Amino acid sequence: MALLAIKHYPDPVLKQVAEPVDAFDGSAAPQVGVARRLAVVDCSGSDEPAQLFTLVNPEIVHREGDSCEEEGCLSVPAYYAKVDRSARVRVRYFNLDGVVEELEADGLLAIAIQHEIDHLDGILFVDHLSPLKKGIFRKKYKKIMEQQREQL
Ligand code: NI
Repeated sequence: MALLAIKHYPDPVLKQVAEPVDAFDGSAAPQVGVARRLAVVDCSGSDEPAQLFTLVNPEIVHREGDSCEEEGCLSVPAYYAKVDRSARVRVRYFNLDGVVEELEADGLLAIAIQHEIDHLDGILFVDHLSPLKKGIFRKKYKKIMEQQREQL
């Protein structure tokens, strides 16, 4: 499978709502385009074995509780902020064989699932910030991008 480059904010592709995956044949995964509803979530620590969840057309069917943890994103380099999310979620999705499954998650996994499903809807974690904090983010991020360009 080809290695895809990470798109950085404010690339317009990050604002696109992804289309559902509608074909499950033997080689579905490599054929999935970048704008398809496929999320891969891995919350294992760096010293633990990978625990990958591949969620096709994922949908959150139940939410419970509140959480507010610091998040970051490969598409928004060097910026972190606390985001209000649900503490526990139940997500319904297709696995790579096209079979419906459900997963109950809390903690980091619940946050990661919400973060990744947001991406499929063109929503970044910084979109959850208050208007005031978003203004601060835009200024800081501009500086971060300028510094990174100077370092090249
Ligand atoms: Ni992200």
